[in-house]
Amino acid sequence: MDDQRKVERSIDAYATGKLEALEAAGLRRTLIETDRTDTIHVVRNGRTLLSFCCNDYLNLSHHPEVKRAARDAIERLGTGAGASRLVTGNHSILVALETKLAAIKGTEACLVFGSGYLANLGTIPALVGPDDLIVLDELAHACMHGGAKLSGAIIESFKHNDVDAARAILARNRTKHARCLLLTETIFSMDGDRAPLTELAALAQEFDAWFMTDDAHGLGVIPEGSNPADIQMGTLSKGAGSYGGYVCASRSVIDLLINRARSFIYSTGLAPASAAAALTALQVMERDPAMCARPLALARGFTNALNLPDAQSAIVPVVLGDAARAMAASKALERDGFLVIAIRPPTVPVDTARLRVTFTAGHSEADVARLADAVAKL
Ligand SMILES: Cc1ncc(COP(=O)(O)O)c(C=O)c1O
Repeated sequence: MDDQRKVERSIDAYATGKLEALEAAGLRRTLIETDRTDTIHVVRNGRTLLSFCCNDYLNLSHHPEVKRAARDAIERLGTGAGASRLVTGNHSILVALETKLAAIKGTEACLVFGSGYLANLGTIPALVGPDDLIVLDELAHACMHGGAKLSGAIIESFKHNDVDAARAILARNRTKHARCLLLTETIFSMDGDRAPLTELAALAQEFDAWFMTDDAHGLGVIPEGSNPADIQMGTLSKGAGSYGGYVCASRSVIDLLINRARSFIYSTGLAPASAAAALTALQVMERDPAMCARPLALARGFTNALNLPDAQSAIVPVVLGDAARAMAASKALERDGFLVIAIRPPTVPVDTARLRVTFTAGHSEADVARLADAVAKL
């Protein structure tokens, strides 16, 4: 066997071994074709299911005005940005989108990235480096952890939403580092709970740390308060029903990101259709607060029906413990006509596998009641 062939075989053996271990632990993931046919239904394995696991909380990806804006942008500007934004990919629609986002978030400026994941991967290393300190919530999204690792800074994670734990870390370590970044999500993606933003901002101020939040699951669903963070990151892929990520901050921070965020500099600009769809979605949100309030109200109806703690966002976890139990519950709901995905480690901590239920403006109260009955029977 020649050397090249040997390498290929060893890679296959490695991959197969890893997959077998995942299978044995009940943690192997596979892709299942799933077509979203309207705002709340999907077709999977030939069956139409009522979906409670989509982050398109306001169903804006199917809104006629939003779709028209995307089509018009394609006609005017083409299907792709054509280059990174520092070359020729900085279409006017991106500038309009950034102006709108900065106005919504109450910041001087905004920068749109290719995705939320890219925004975190690029922003965190642009702000802190190997001699610095990052203090982050243990349940912060994988891309915050990813950006933190890429920065090379010392990373200390604190117990979820525990301000005293964050304080203890800062008290022990802050003076050893020149710069410090405190990171959290506003709404936690797998738990649906909210971070204590005011307390964390005060802590950041006390310890001379910069405060950055990830609002991926808040935009359009949780009314914009005055977020005290220095850097407000988010995504256009959930409440805004499109794609792309953004960072809102002061003009100087945004100018620094344009010069230092590698996932911005070395990646093609967001496609015009995605930018146009997101911009129109933001306008629709602004004129329809009743629509924006529905996902949280429906989530509260669900938690009331099941005597769960009050929902704090459009996301409700039904924690079942081991992965096999969560998978079986998801399959049982599928037999009843619902799509509710099981979330397993490593996305969530070991022994906290769960159903992650998300509510959207397009669900009816009757849909929610039927789901609650089905979950109660599990
Ligand atoms: C909290 C959080 N941050 C960031 C992201 C990444 O955003 P995007 O899907 O735009 O890459 C997600 C979603 O997947 C998320 O849940």
